[in-house]
Amino acid sequence: MNLHFHNFQPESEDLHASVVQGLMRTPKQLHPKLFYDEIGSQIFERICEQPEYYLPEVERGIFETHAREMIACLGENCHIIEPGAGSSKKIRFLLDRIRPSLYAPMDISAEHLLTSAQKLARDYPVLPIHAICVDHTKPYRLPAEIPGHNRVFFYPGSSLGNFDPVDAIHFLRDIRGKAGEDGGLMIGIDTKKPPEILNRAYNDAAGATAAFNLNLLQRIKSELDADVDVESFYHHAFYNERLGRIEMHLYSRCKQKIRVNGSAFQIEAGESIHTENSYKYTVEEFQALAREAGWKSDRVWLDDKQYFSVHFLRSC
Ligand code: AVI
Repeated sequence: MNLHFHNFQPESEDLHASVVQGLMRTPKQLHPKLFYDEIGSQIFERICEQPEYYLPEVERGIFETHAREMIACLGENCHIIEPGAGSSKKIRFLLDRIRPSLYAPMDISAEHLLTSAQKLARDYPVLPIHAICVDHTKPYRLPAEIPGHNRVFFYPGSSLGNFDPVDAIHFLRDIRGKAGEDGGLMIGIDTKKPPEILNRAYNDAAGATAAFNLNLLQRIKSELDADVDVESFYHHAFYNERLGRIEMHLYSRCKQKIRVNGSAFQIEAGESIHTENSYKYTVEEFQALAREAGWKSDRVWLDDKQYFSVHFLRSC
């Protein structure tokens, strides 16, 4: 095994500060990165298996159909860096076809990252793996062991959609800086489509997305010892066509108070806590965003229904 672990895990005060700041806002908000504790990361895997949540399957289909061209873009001996790698399942498709010189998965959840990286290291024993536990939405440095050339960032799953557009540009600009002059970015982006399809994808019949959303309150309750009645909230997500985004909310069934370490937050019946946005982009919209961040479009692949896009970008 050739596995190295770099731990820059945020302290739990970060969770406390983020929750208090979010609940003080009007309307109330909680940051979507708070979803990904160990349990949340597992529930997210379940979301990806729901028939309504088409994103992973459509993206996989695009990878399978265009594998050869994609591999040609990446080239051998590249250093692949994957922010928000989660279970590192998607990278296996590439690792089975090319021989990168290094793979660096990054994730905010240390346990989840380590478990996934260990599995990967067993299956690809000669591949140097540098697992980095970090909040990639905040400033960070890559460990010095990652060579500065031939860097390719891999960001599948339309995770960029969870940033507001201005933050998405900052994030893309940050990885453009880290990728360097000969760098690349392979990124999956969910496209705009009829609202019914999007609404179904984020309100699956089996309740996986609801469990994911509600787990955020459960996490606050157990990690911060907060006084919150999780069952008095319900999940609902809807497509906001004007803003081109899915919004996920937790609605309160009654008037109540949430108490977190001496602070109390009043919440009215029917009031929501906004927990996530998931922006959808046309190919042109995304390319314009990427251009502002210093990337130029090299290739783009879509499925037949144009439900999802995979872009390869180069530094410019
Ligand atoms: C991780 N991210 C791309 C997912 C999305 O589709 O925005 C998170 C998610 N939230 C609910 N379902 C999936």
